[in-house]
Amino acid sequence: MDIQEVTVLDLNVEKFIEEKVAEIAAIVGDGIAINALSGGVDSSVVTILAHRALGNKLKTYFIDNGLMREGEPEYIVGLFKELGVSVELVDSKKEFFSALSGITEPEEKREAITHAFYKVVFGNLVLESGGRYLLQGTNYTDVEETIAGVKRQHNILEQLGIDTEQQYGYKVLEPLIQLRKDSIRELGKVLGLPLEIYNRPPFPGPALSARIIGEVTSQRIVTVRHATKIIEEELADIDAFQCLGILHEDRVTGVREGKRDFGLQIEVRCWDSVDARVASPTNLPFDLLRKLADRITNEVTGVVSVTYNIAQKPPSTIEAV
Ligand code: XMP
Repeated sequence: MDIQEVTVLDLNVEKFIEEKVAEIAAIVGDGIAINALSGGVDSSVVTILAHRALGNKLKTYFIDNGLMREGEPEYIVGLFKELGVSVELVDSKKEFFSALSGITEPEEKREAITHAFYKVVFGNLVLESGGRYLLQGTNYTDVEETIAGVKRQHNILEQLGIDTEQQYGYKVLEPLIQLRKDSIRELGKVLGLPLEIYNRPPFPGPALSARIIGEVTSQRIVTVRHATKIIEEELADIDAFQCLGILHEDRVTGVREGKRDFGLQIEVRCWDSVDARVASPTNLPFDLLRKLADRITNEVTGVVSVTYNIAQKPPSTIEAV
């Protein structure tokens, strides 16, 4: 691919910030740009970078797609308000659930998410705001994995030959595209993001829908969201790259109150990694795994089985879809 990677060793953070701020300001000029903040490291860094470049010519939105973790929209909007960035919360739950309805195949699911974000939701926001640019935090790993055919990352457009101006009515700007996660964290630190944001474990654009095998319904989101909350609480002190829960499609026989309960399965994954290219399962204490299993089976309705993934990436991947 013709994008030149800048590794963390080659990165001069201050100079990079200065250059990107100038570049964004020059491209957008007197126009308006929009960006969607998801609360992940990449979109948070882009928000601050673009805010610095554009001030009130930047309109920042948080898209509530109904697929986020518990309390996430309010937490992120509140946190950025404290940083002086006002973020508009956009309720797009209906658009995403209807786009995902009936879809089980992983790439089709990712395609549906891309369409809902870029065509339906951003298309409207750009029209309403009078903007011509969408700023987003695509990183080098996203592009690499999509081009290699591992999985289509929701935010890869131009690199797949999609002309966003023609198809969606706006141009996409991706100031972080040469960087991997470790470099983006360095940028976040220097840009003044709080540690809880720049050091946050990554979270995928398709959100919890990347963690549901089979159809994504609001009920299945409730299940995986609850499991995620427990997993994040119990593993909060573990120094891992990313921890997550996956809701499987197949059911297994369990037993509750002496009766057969053909119930749900949650798979826990916890990864050690530097930049998500390769990853290995974190060596979690068995007692902790047992506690996780007990809490998930007791607290998440319908779950009778909890497993821990012990495969490496590759051949596994971090998310399940
Ligand atoms: P995989 O599952 O491909 O994930 O091993 C690598 C890293 O990327 C995150 N991920 C995504 N991030 N859009 C994103 O912004 C996506 O579509 C997407 N899919 C996976 C994943 O959480 C991991 O950190």
